[in-house]
Amino acid sequence: MDRLPYTYLLIFCCLTFGCSFGRGQDSSPSCDVGVMVRRGTTKKAAAQQRLTVECPVKHCGESVNVTWCKLLETNQWEQINQTENVEITQQKYVDRLTSFLTFKRISIHDDGLYRCNLLTGDISHIINITVSAEVPSDAGKEDVSWLSYFSICVSVILLVITVSVLTALSFYGWKRRVYSYDA
Ligand SMILES: *[C@@H]1O[C@H](CO)[C@@H](O)[C@H](O)[C@H]1NC(C)=O
Ligand SMILES: *[C@@H]1O[C@H](CO)[C@@H](O)[C@H](O)[C@H]1NC(C)=O
Ligand SMILES: *[C@@H]1O[C@H](CO)[C@@H](O)[C@H](O)[C@H]1NC(C)=O
Repeated sequence: MDRLPYTYLLIFCCLTFGCSFGRGQDSSPSCDVGVMVRRGTTKKAAAQQRLTVECPVKHCGESVNVTWCKLLETNQWEQINQTENVEITQQKYVDRLTSFLTFKRISIHDDGLYRCNLLTGDISHIINITVSAEVPSDAGKEDVSWLSYFSICVSVILLVITVSVLTALSFYGWKRRVYSYDA
């Protein structure tokens, strides 16, 4: 009769130990499939540039298919398909893979919010792609203006030299003529 509490205690201990042991065994080798895009990912590009966005996925050896979507103005997500401008590729490793969405020549219309999905329903954080207007090559422009400024300077200097030389020559010639008249 006085042994009963001990029996209960023993059973309780076994259950507790067994449960935590079982849980420990469950959680350690578990591998959560999922996309690992960081929250608040943003990408910036100028129009006409090439831009690649990455979607890292942990797949734990399962076969997964990654799709890419863009948020439309209607607030719906539309699947992105490969076009001559858009390329979707992936690189596979042992337990993870990375899907790449590449815009060969990004345009202003590609500006927007994107995400990658797994067919299992796992969706990534939003990727904000900002496309700015094509940047004209300022360097070339500056070069040109610098060059014209330089050529104007050179022309002015050449003109001054020419005028000085001509003046000197004509003065010298006039003087010589004066001397020759004197002679
Ligand atoms: C995943 O993609 C592969 C080829 O890209 C295709 O053969 C397979 O059917 C796809 N799986 C699913 C579940 O759609
Ligand atoms: C891409 O293909 C899917 C299914 O084939 C379609 O539902 C979707 O509208 C297409 N997206 C575009 C941008 O054409
Ligand atoms: C996307 O990023 C741009 C620039 O970083 C920002 O101006 C814009 O508000 C962002 N869009 C959203 C919906 O967060």
